[in-house]
Amino acid sequence: MTEDLFESSVESLGPGAVWLRAFATPHEAALLAGVNEVTAQAPLRHMVTPGGFRMSVAMSNCGALGWVTDRTGYRYDTIDPDTGRPWPCMPAAFSQLATEAAAAAGFEGFVPDACLLNRYEAGTRLSLHQDRNERDMRWPIVSVSLGMPAVFLFGGAKRADKARRVPLAHGDVVVWGGPARLHYHGVLPLKEEAHPFMGACRINLTFRKAG
Ligand code: SIN
Ligand code: FE2
Repeated sequence: MTEDLFESSVESLGPGAVWLRAFATPHEAALLAGVNEVTAQAPLRHMVTPGGFRMSVAMSNCGALGWVTDRTGYRYDTIDPDTGRPWPCMPAAFSQLATEAAAAAGFEGFVPDACLLNRYEAGTRLSLHQDRNERDMRWPIVSVSLGMPAVFLFGGAKRADKARRVPLAHGDVVVWGGPARLHYHGVLPLKEEAHPFMGACRINLTFRKAG
């Protein structure tokens, strides 16, 4: 009976959006090794929004392009502003998983050039936003959850559209593109529900074709 909890399944979140439960679970060891490798070179940090607020999510990046925010705005940059060096290479296990998840959601040929790492702790949240800093909106967003569970809000094309609450668990992947590409989304404040081996921490990997 307990095994059913870990079985993968595919659930539609509307046209262009799917929730792939436990899709990443078979790759968890390689993904966590990749997270450690990347954050050793480009440490997680709390960035500042253009409005001057310190984000509660701690972030880093890997791949050719990294998403950054500071007082001047949001952008993709080839250089980590904290280290002055290029972002670490994207681990092969990361890009393979992103390509496979996109294909499972109907987006063949997705090759990400940007992976944003987000670290959440109890109380961390991410307010409703659109991912709109990428050049080519034909490619989807692939979002991988590791560690503590979180309630992902998946809304519509307008900020005021009703958002669905998606309870994401370790290993779950959400892919949105096509008609859902610019849909608003966010994460409710996390509850302290420690994960068996990641503790009171959630890591989200967001893959994009940014350039
Ligand atoms: C994001 O929208 O960049 C991250 C979403 C998540 O943490 O699930
Ligand atoms: Fe986002």
